[in-house]
Amino acid sequence: MPSLFDPIAIGPLALKNRIWMAPLTRGRATKEAVPTPLMAQYYAQRAEAGLIISEATGISREGLGWPFAPGLWTDAQVEGWKPVTQAVHAAGGRMVAQLWHMGRLVHPDLGGGQPLSSSATTAPHHAHTYEGNKPYVAARAATRKDIARIVGDYARAAVNAIRAGFDGIQVHGANGYLVDQFLRASANSRDDDYGGSIDKRLRFMTEVLEAISAEIGVDRVGIRYSPNILSQGVDDPDPIALYTAVAKRLEQLGVPWIELREPGPDSTFGSGATEPVSPAMRAHYSGVIALNSDYLGDTAQARIDEGVADAIAFGRTFLANPDLVERIRIGADLNEPDGKTFYTQGPEGYVDYPALDGERAAA
Ligand SMILES: Cc1cc2nc3c(=O)[nH]c(=O)nc-3n(C[C@H](O)[C@H](O)[C@H](O)COP(=O)(O)O)c2cc1C
Repeated sequence: MPSLFDPIAIGPLALKNRIWMAPLTRGRATKEAVPTPLMAQYYAQRAEAGLIISEATGISREGLGWPFAPGLWTDAQVEGWKPVTQAVHAAGGRMVAQLWHMGRLVHPDLGGGQPLSSSATTAPHHAHTYEGNKPYVAARAATRKDIARIVGDYARAAVNAIRAGFDGIQVHGANGYLVDQFLRASANSRDDDYGGSIDKRLRFMTEVLEAISAEIGVDRVGIRYSPNILSQGVDDPDPIALYTAVAKRLEQLGVPWIELREPGPDSTFGSGATEPVSPAMRAHYSGVIALNSDYLGDTAQARIDEGVADAIAFGRTFLANPDLVERIRIGADLNEPDGKTFYTQGPEGYVDYPALDGERAAA
């Protein structure tokens, strides 16, 4: 079995190892969703990752409901990303953009109108806004016209990602956002071609993947799911059946890689995880499978040894350890992530986590 340090390819992309950086929203862009120079520094510090998956990045104003998160729908945003991807490439890294429409989780303060979703529902809990937390508002069900427009927005954002220098894109199909609001049954009560049977619930995701692939080539496309955990009010009564069908669909489409946020029962990120679906997906999907959540070096290698995962994506550990790859290699202690600075602005808790050589230099 390969080691975490062995190279791997996804489509045309040669990756130097299987230790990937999971997507992490950090709120360091401008209010206009333009990336900042600080973001170039942060991502370049982590370029030893085999692959960096960017923080979730809005495909449209309508779809972006997180304060100071970046976007990919304006030229200014494309220009803002260029120094980021250039810095990562100059440091020897590879980076894809995670494309995001938050659906019912967009508060009107940010999105600019009533949010939409697969069905008319209201998300539980509270939205982050520039004025603090506010309750979510009721979403309306997307019309066919809305769906066609949003699919077009995904395709445009993917084109913009390539213009901005990204090596590809990852569709955010996880964590209760719009793609997930169509896929998993608890949020989708439609009775048209986009809801009801599993096949119909797969339709929106399929149209998004096809539209993006038509623009940038399917070789540059991946997708993330959170199949076995309730996320922001979204789950499914039969994850194995749903994600087996997803795996078959991705195989037909030729999507070369997926990433699963698939926590175990003792996860420190979300609770109530059910049985993993990755073994069932593996049986029907020949692409690269990256697994995520709660991994450390030894547990990550164990999943590769089992043959279920080809790569492992690390979230909070990469956030807090810019040189995570080296730390895993030598079995060094890890810095602890500081939750207080996850979504604050500025450099603190962002670009100032010490690397080992920095600690040695300071000693
Ligand atoms: C601060 C923070 C921001 C996150 N932002 C995103 C995001 O933008 N997109 C996404 O798919 N998941 C996001 N997640 C989930 C992580 O990608 C990952 O699934 C989670 O941290 C569990 O993995 P870990 O145990 O390696 O940290 C975020 C998690 C954290 C802690």
